[in-house]
Amino acid sequence: MTGEVWAIVVAAGAGDRLAADRPKAFVRLGGRTMLAWSLSMLDDHELIDGIVMVVPEEYEERASLLADDLCAMKIAAAVAGGVTRPESVAAGVACVPEDAAFVLVHDAARPLVPPEVVDRVVAALRAGAQGVVPALPLADTVKRVGPDGSVAETLDRAALRAVQTPQGFPAAVLREALAAHTADATDCASMVERLGVAVVCVEGDERAFKVTTPADLARAVQLAAEDDHDDDEHD
Ligand code: CTP
Ligand code: MG
Repeated sequence: MTGEVWAIVVAAGAGDRLAADRPKAFVRLGGRTMLAWSLSMLDDHELIDGIVMVVPEEYEERASLLADDLCAMKIAAAVAGGVTRPESVAAGVACVPEDAAFVLVHDAARPLVPPEVVDRVVAALRAGAQGVVPALPLADTVKRVGPDGSVAETLDRAALRAVQTPQGFPAAVLREALAAHTADATDCASMVERLGVAVVCVEGDERAFKVTTPADLARAVQLAAEDDHDDDEHD
């Protein structure tokens, strides 16, 4: 399977902060696993040509079965991730065909990301961007603090953004960034930035929030249930 735009769904984290009885991506949200939400959105998305899932070791087969259950057509591989997020991304990139033009990297921990965010990321890549992140303004004032917790500085909130996924890159740029930096970067764009490559923001979405804690999961469950209810009303 080859194509222009590939998506890597990173789902290999343990989910320590959620502290469930299984890896976070396999925790239930509504009637299916958290991972299934992103997979089905990406599989249905007309701009996505192929998908690679990166899962915890020994979850590869379970992930493939999950893809079968979804009748997903575009999932090319389920591979084991690494100890850090960049290692997991690298494992995914290794399964992306050489001739793929663009790669989107998405956190399985953001199950409710709307397809419009993918539209915006791909549009920016097609317009020539070398790195694209969905971003939202911050509601809270942010301070830089020292090791003892004392405030060193109040940052200019107007210039700050919270960034989400999927983050998009020309495949060659992402491969180069991963080869240069395998340290524990919390997102892909920061590795690309370190190459001196310009990264641009597109509009993110509240629904692309990351499920980190049990309270986040409760919020996602509620949003998913509201969607089901809306669908019923429109039937
Ligand atoms: N991730 C991954 N491989 C890792 C670490 C993280 O694929 N070694 C993925 C997670 O599965 C998640 C995304 O990166 O979809 C964002 O990471 P995070 O929210 O921190 O998830 P976890 O690392 O699973 O959670 P925690 O840090 O609480 O353990
Ligand atoms: Mg983590």
